[in-house]
Amino acid sequence: MGMDLTGQRVLVVGGSKYLGEAVARKAAEAGASVVVGARALDQARAAADTLADATAIRIDVTDEASIAAAAADLGSVDHVVITASAHHNVPVTDLDKSETVAAFDAKVIGPLLVAKHFAPRMPPTGSIVLFSGVAAWSPAPPFTVMGVTNGAVSFLATHLAHELAPIRVNAISPGIVDSGTWDALGDEAKKNLLADAAKSNLAGRAGTREDIADAALWLIGAGFVSGETIHVEGGARYA
Ligand SMILES: NC(=O)c1ccc[n+]([C@@H]2O[C@H](COP(=O)([O-])OP(=O)(O)OC[C@H]3O[C@@H](n4cnc5c(N)ncnc54)[C@H](OP(=O)(O)O)[C@@H]3O)[C@@H](O)[C@H]2O)c1
Repeated sequence: MGMDLTGQRVLVVGGSKYLGEAVARKAAEAGASVVVGARALDQARAAADTLADATAIRIDVTDEASIAAAAADLGSVDHVVITASAHHNVPVTDLDKSETVAAFDAKVIGPLLVAKHFAPRMPPTGSIVLFSGVAAWSPAPPFTVMGVTNGAVSFLATHLAHELAPIRVNAISPGIVDSGTWDALGDEAKKNLLADAAKSNLAGRAGTREDIADAALWLIGAGFVSGETIHVEGGARYA
């Protein structure tokens, strides 16, 4: 039998598409009352409309006023999942300062501010799931900013877990996952990326949305796990 989230309210920031959408769908299937958070309210509504018991809210993790407004509007939530990212993948010699700051804003500072506004509205049994990524453990240009922001997310999970206890805070570190975000590369480049990923992990395949959504739901229910980063990457760090 799968997890039962009946009576639990789960906010998924970045829940209108890709991995966030998969987590929102899985949480709804488990009986949760889901809140789909996205920068574009119409996209959040469109995603929420496809789920059994879901509402939509505008939330931009780089805009503290929108986080505060969403928290005040929702009142309380049991679990928060945050998938936001703004990657700046260029060689260090080509870094743009504002895009570098934006990358930290989306992945590190934004989730900190979500914790600031939502933790006081969460029960002691609540949890937060952050998104790190395998690039943190595989230094390779031009992914330095991505690697460092993902690494910071992992530390953020541990520090928030300590400060917000007994609310649990954990991170998922996906490997390369066919989430939908890679569609922007075009068919050929995406195919090559996923094939390369399959060759560079122990599972011999790229990750799926299901792999990550399963891990997120498990972390939501794992009452004795806090401060951890769960690597859902097919063993890529050991290949
Ligand atoms: N897919 C992979 O292979 C992979 C690998 C390693 C790590 N990860 C991590 O997993 C997470 C999810 O990745 P993904 O594959 O689903 O694709 P993604 O393109 O990173 O998705 C980001 C999500 O966050 C939303 N978002 C972006 N900026 C936001 C902001 N300022 N405020 C609120 N929401 C914002 C996006 O929606 P809108 O743009 O519509 O607002 C989208 O729903 C990311 O943190 C990513 O770094 C993914």
